[in-house]
Amino acid sequence: MMRLSLRASLLMAPLAGLFFCSASFAAGAPQDLIRQGEYLSKASDCEVCHTAPGGTTFAGGLAFKTPFGVIYSSNITPDKSTGIGRWTEQQFSNVLKHGIRADGKNLYPAMPYTSYSKLTDADIHAMYAYFMAIQGVNHNPPENEMGFPYNQRLALKGWNLINFHYKPFEDDPQQSAEWNRGKYVATALGHCEECHTPRNLAMGLSNKAYAGAMVDGWEAFNISSDKVSGIGNWSHDDLMQYLRTGALPGKATTGGGMADVISHSLRFLTPEDMSALATYIKSVPAQQTSSRNRSAAGQDAQSNITQDVRGMPIDDAAPSGAMLYNGNCASCHGTAGQGIGENRYYPSLSQNSVVGSDKPNNLVQVILHGIDRENGAGDHIVMPGFGDNLTDAQIATLTNYVRNQYGNGGDNVDAAAVKTLRDNNVTVIPGYLLIAGGGVGALIVIALVVYFRRRGKLRQIS
Ligand code: HEC
Ligand code: HEC
Ligand code: HEC
Repeated sequence: MMRLSLRASLLMAPLAGLFFCSASFAAGAPQDLIRQGEYLSKASDCEVCHTAPGGTTFAGGLAFKTPFGVIYSSNITPDKSTGIGRWTEQQFSNVLKHGIRADGKNLYPAMPYTSYSKLTDADIHAMYAYFMAIQGVNHNPPENEMGFPYNQRLALKGWNLINFHYKPFEDDPQQSAEWNRGKYVATALGHCEECHTPRNLAMGLSNKAYAGAMVDGWEAFNISSDKVSGIGNWSHDDLMQYLRTGALPGKATTGGGMADVISHSLRFLTPEDMSALATYIKSVPAQQTSSRNRSAAGQDAQSNITQDVRGMPIDDAAPSGAMLYNGNCASCHGTAGQGIGENRYYPSLSQNSVVGSDKPNNLVQVILHGIDRENGAGDHIVMPGFGDNLTDAQIATLTNYVRNQYGNGGDNVDAAAVKTLRDNNVTVIPGYLLIAGGGVGALIVIALVVYFRRRGKLRQIS
């Protein structure tokens, strides 16, 4: 009996060891490492691109429309057949650091590896542990719809040659530890520059860091330290409050891509990381991009619309801007655009960077599509879109009225410009460019130039 059990336990020992081993494999790495990886993946906002509308988190399939066709994000759950379940840590690291997939092919830079290449190996290790520990989802995102030559991933090596030179993150010994951490949070994790820095003709990031850029028909504002063109007159605490809650009464609220960044990513930052991020962004050299003499949010006028609408005849066919404002906006934003509610939950339209910007894009977008986002506490904040109820001409009239009444005036928009943003037009590359000889890489560069020139014309409707 005694011997038997001794034998049994001797026999069981290696088995138990084996069992323990595979169990610890199945459960992935230690819990703290997984939690650390989860935090890092939130701080770098992997979810927003790798989740399709209504789809499972990280199962991919979000469509990126480019003039060359549609790219779909990948399934990055650990499913062994449709996701990254069979990938080694090295293969996972190659994606983030070099934009190279497990099969050795290059990724399209729609996946911002240009920024993630700054991630440290320790952080990649934690993220790998996290992604291997989440629930695998069997889901094949649609195949990319790219015609020749844009379906040639080899050509992306050409793009990398021009735009991407792998360089690991290095601390600047002249700066404080907090500043260096902030730079890491902004670049390697938050990839702020991918939206806020203008691109050059080859679609790489230009050297005008944080000077503002157009992204999918939205203006990602100048957030350099210029006091007029940028956010140089925001305090460190102002910036922290905005990045955590998306609302800074008297200066800014948030919509478009930035609303997603705050809802899915920034609101989860630790106070230390948020403070570091603000310290770094506040230090970014000024980039002057506007000839205004006051900041976008500098307009203080709160002129009441009542005198513009009271007793005026109602022209149903072409209502005036004041009538449109009174009927659609005043209930929430006030008859003097002053905002309503505790902490101006319904923000003021004067002293608002969206209304006061040189470009009318974001105001048109907000009127068309509304806002649906989460704030720092995870509460939903909703403004309805008016795209279904107002015509392009009415939205143009209303936009011009609001900008003149509460913003800094500037160029007017017309119905055609509103239609462009409503349709989210993607430019078509003329056929002759496709057959004009030259290497595929050269073709792509030419096409990108055309794309950006045209996109500039179409999207920057001011
Ligand atoms: C701005 C959008 C965007 C963000 C943010 C983003 N990705 Fe991606 N990712 C993509 C797209 C698009 C692809 C597919 C590109 C292609 O087909 O060439 C991709 C591809 C990948 C792949 C390759 C998968 C495969 O099967 O080939 C991995 C792995 C990956 N992403 C991981 C991540 C991780 C981890 C993060 C966060 C640190 C992240 N991504 C953030 C857009 C994004
Ligand atoms: C996906 C693109 C995208 C990314 C990534 C992004 N932003 Fe933005 N950002 C925008 C857009 C678009 C706006 C304009 C929001 C609006 O219309 O209210 C904006 C607005 C802002 C503003 C408000 C400026 C003002 O004058 O009102 C700040 C500050 C800001 N972003 C900081 C950041 C920081 C810091 C990061 C990185 C952690 C970042 N953004 C990443 C797109 C982006
Ligand atoms: C039912 C209430 C409601 C109505 C009606 C409404 N809004 Fe809003 N508006 C909001 C809320 C809520 C926000 C979001 C504030 C935030 O993101 O914190 C907002 C935000 C905005 C912003 C700032 C957007 C940004 O990106 O920062 C602008 C500009 C704006 N509204 C203009 C308008 C105009 C013009 C109309 C009329 C067509 C209108 N709103 C009608 C509730 C409303």
